[in-house]
Amino acid sequence: MGVDRSAPMIDLARSKAVERGLTDTTFEVGEMSRMPVQSASVDAVVSRFALLYEDFADVLPSLAETARVLRPGGAFSLAVWDRAELNTLIALFHHVASDVPGADALPDPFAYDVLATPGHRAALLSGAGFAAVEETAFTFDYRVPDQAALVEVLHTSPYGPHLDALEPAERTTVEKRLATHAAGYRQSDGSYQIPITCRLLWGRR
Ligand SMILES: C[S@@+](CC[C@H](N)C(=O)[O-])C[C@H]1O[C@@H](n2cnc3c(N)ncnc32)[C@H](O)[C@@H]1O
Repeated sequence: MGVDRSAPMIDLARSKAVERGLTDTTFEVGEMSRMPVQSASVDAVVSRFALLYEDFADVLPSLAETARVLRPGGAFSLAVWDRAELNTLIALFHHVASDVPGADALPDPFAYDVLATPGHRAALLSGAGFAAVEETAFTFDYRVPDQAALVEVLHTSPYGPHLDALEPAERTTVEKRLATHAAGYRQSDGSYQIPITCRLLWGRR
């Protein structure tokens, strides 16, 4: 069962499940802090970049809900961002967009750095009653086939709506700046390979 508060993300998950031939799946638009399942009924909780990351107000209620739904001994595995500077792609987007008109209203990925304070998330998990919490850094390569695809990722990122509201000339300046700053990640075939470091936390209830 997959839960996300965003209907488009749930639609995407449903279509990926069909693509991969997965059956016996359900996907629901909903909140991590109110999962539609009975207490102690779930074998494992897996979250990529949502639980313990996105929603400050919801961090503790979501953890309490995870503890409620997991059966005793049930496992959890959570991918979370590390400090924003280690999320190379977002740090790059933030940098190239930082002096556009209205930049004050841009999303600030560095605001989440407080959650990445060493030991902070593990302590939150232990406090919520999880045992044997382990944590490690994890680096993966984000790949896009060419510059146009990199620009498209920028436009579909949380920066997109701000950039789309710019004059065309200003938008072009940002896109050119992105190409310049990303040059170090460009491969000989024109694709980009951008190393991103995140963290994994796992353990049992
Ligand atoms: C960075 S995206 C990751 C999406 C997906 N898990 C993946 O790995 O591709 C974070 C997702 O968390 C969802 N989200 C954030 N806070 C949430 C909450 N309190 N309840 C449910 N979903 C939430 C957002 O809607 C968004 O789709």
